[in-house]
Amino acid sequence: MEGLKYAVGDRTIVAEGAKLIPIYVMGKRYEVPETLTIMKALEYVGYRFIRGCGCRAGACGACVTVYRTAGDYRLKFGLACQTVIEPNMYLVQIPFVPANKAIYDINQLSPDIFTFEKLYPETFRCLACNTCTKACPMDIPVMDCIQSLIQGDIKKCAELSHPCIMCGMCSLRCPAEIQHPFVTLLARRLYGKYLTPKAKHLEKRIEQIKKGMFDWMLDELMEIPLEDLKERYTEREFEPEPYDPDWHPKDRRYLIIEED
Ligand code: SF4
Ligand code: SF4
Ligand code: FES
Repeated sequence: MEGLKYAVGDRTIVAEGAKLIPIYVMGKRYEVPETLTIMKALEYVGYRFIRGCGCRAGACGACVTVYRTAGDYRLKFGLACQTVIEPNMYLVQIPFVPANKAIYDINQLSPDIFTFEKLYPETFRCLACNTCTKACPMDIPVMDCIQSLIQGDIKKCAELSHPCIMCGMCSLRCPAEIQHPFVTLLARRLYGKYLTPKAKHLEKRIEQIKKGMFDWMLDELMEIPLEDLKERYTEREFEPEPYDPDWHPKDRRYLIIEED
């Protein structure tokens, strides 16, 4: 780690001479190297994540953390795996966000506003305060998602909320007690099932799978010794970046492109 000035890495690696800053965990003061994320700082002081941690990459929404910094009245929220510590942070981990999750059969629902009225009536209590948007670590315009639903625009809600990681921070802050992650998930599901045009090539591929056209490939894979399988994986050919529509892999044995 010669020449390293900061504490970096997936594991907490502390460089010699890294500056220590104070943070408070459950009210107890600790000194931790600056530049760590909240998650790494907690591990540095001895905590182990048994729950409230998943991907460590800002994608699963499991590591919701509430904090305040000394002298600031504002309650702040962040993902522990993404938020870098600040001096005098007072931290609380949220083990999970309890939510009113409606039970439904998507095949029995209709893609309209009445479905939301029935399953999540609290959605219509939105005050348009925008607090949910300010809380979102994914920069989703959460209020606009809810407002577009209220106006009957499921497509807009589904598209705007697409990056949602279901962390629940918006729900924690909402004065109308709306369950945004589940409400917008329902919008995305309804949009995907009923409102988007069906992909013809996907239908065709499903038919091919049903006919068993890929079974021989799976059988072949099942027969390959583990070491050879690993080699195949590491040696595999990648599609070019950016994508070239005229590109084809060198090994064409596995291409099934007939049956138009
Ligand atoms: S919309 Fe809500 S649940 Fe989804 S990522 Fe943003 S804050 Fe988290
Ligand atoms: S926090 Fe709740 S009430 Fe405020 S805009 Fe968002 S959904 Fe509406
Ligand atoms: S651990 Fe997955 S978002 Fe932080």
